[in-house]
Amino acid sequence: MSSLITPDPGAVDTLDLTDPRTHAEYDLTRVWQRLRKEQPFYKHRPVGGSEGFWVVSRYEDVSTLYRDTRRFTSEKGNVLTTLLLGGDSAAGMMAAVTDGPRHNDLRRILLKAFSPRALTGVVENIQAAARQLLLDAVAREECDFARDVAAHIPLNAICDLMAVPQADRPFVLECTEAALGSDGGAQSPAVAWQARNDILAYFEKLATERRRNPGTDAVSLLATGTLEGKPLTMDEIVVNCYSLILGGDETSRLSMTGAVAAFLEHPDQWRALLDGEVEISTAVEEVLRWTTPAIHFGRSALEDVPVGDQGQQIKAGDVVTLWNNSANMDEEVFANPGRFDLARTPNKHIAFGYGPHFCLGAYLGRAEIAAMLTALRDIVTTIEPNGEPRRVYSNLLSGMTSLPVVLRPA
Ligand code: HEM
Repeated sequence: MSSLITPDPGAVDTLDLTDPRTHAEYDLTRVWQRLRKEQPFYKHRPVGGSEGFWVVSRYEDVSTLYRDTRRFTSEKGNVLTTLLLGGDSAAGMMAAVTDGPRHNDLRRILLKAFSPRALTGVVENIQAAARQLLLDAVAREECDFARDVAAHIPLNAICDLMAVPQADRPFVLECTEAALGSDGGAQSPAVAWQARNDILAYFEKLATERRRNPGTDAVSLLATGTLEGKPLTMDEIVVNCYSLILGGDETSRLSMTGAVAAFLEHPDQWRALLDGEVEISTAVEEVLRWTTPAIHFGRSALEDVPVGDQGQQIKAGDVVTLWNNSANMDEEVFANPGRFDLARTPNKHIAFGYGPHFCLGAYLGRAEIAAMLTALRDIVTTIEPNGEPRRVYSNLLSGMTSLPVVLRPA
């Protein structure tokens, strides 16, 4: 594995947590330890011409703030980029950046599409795909686990969830790749913008058809649902369709790839999985805690809120960032948090957030990781590194966009 820079934990003021390089090139373990211990509500300096922001690192505080939608809103953005720009254009329309009764209505509609019963067929397809992708990978021996295996599962699952016809999938996959540029973004901003518009236009067409002829998929549910008593507008339908891709594609890929990277570093845990010493469902939770693909989310304070035991006060309007990756390593909650332990129980990680905005795709995300772990256990015996992994450059997501490995069959 490529070596990361280990900054002096005392020099936290020199770090810029908005800079993707800080997360991709530095090992912040000791920085987070120090913040949790000494400055659990840390005020980050202003960077790039925007206001400073609060950095919340303890599990207890992060989960308390996630729950507190009365004093902390998502409607001014829920990630650093939009929060520091002063807002999100989808606020009040897209579930993740909507609060109150409208948010309840959107969740009510989407939860139907995400119910375990509705997802039975989707999960069966995920299991079959995971097996086939690994069979192909062991047949070739060499593969890039991120690109050749993990990348092929989540977006297809989301297309299943929305009942995107098979014939349209190459187009949707291509546009998503170009719009989100998850692999370092080789394409120009203009190409990305065009691709995003193409996907939105595609969903508009699909939603118009589903309004006339609805099924039980997520697009039909949005197209026929009501928000505060009125049918959803086309903009509301389309941004929520897009949010499923935004929320569910890269996060799931990163957690599956992160599991394989963790096995390379912790061969005892790979053995434990192979020998059937751990339940898959228990292992899934540790993979989620360990990889924590979404490292932060954020809120804006609606009123002054006293915090911590150092007489600090968050002021109305302040941006507050909640660091899931630190919370999931909090030694007050997790025994020996730096150990990757597939049998860890209890394991109340907050990789999916907490409270009213708790991830709608949690069941699906878990099913994808479970399918991958099961297929790995059944099909592969040896995993070897086969080149330098490449990390994602982001202040929101963490993990690897490339992980070359050799997989040998059972
Ligand atoms: C919300 C993480 C998979 C769709 C969230 C939140 C987190 C998260 C931390 C909370 C955001 C906040 O509080 O502001 C993850 C991780 C995943 C994953 C780590 C995989 C390992 C998925 C999938 C989908 C999805 C597969 C859909 C197909 C959503 C949506 C929300 C959300 C729509 C907004 C919910 C709301 O605001 O009510 N996710 N997610 N996620 N996620 Fe996921």
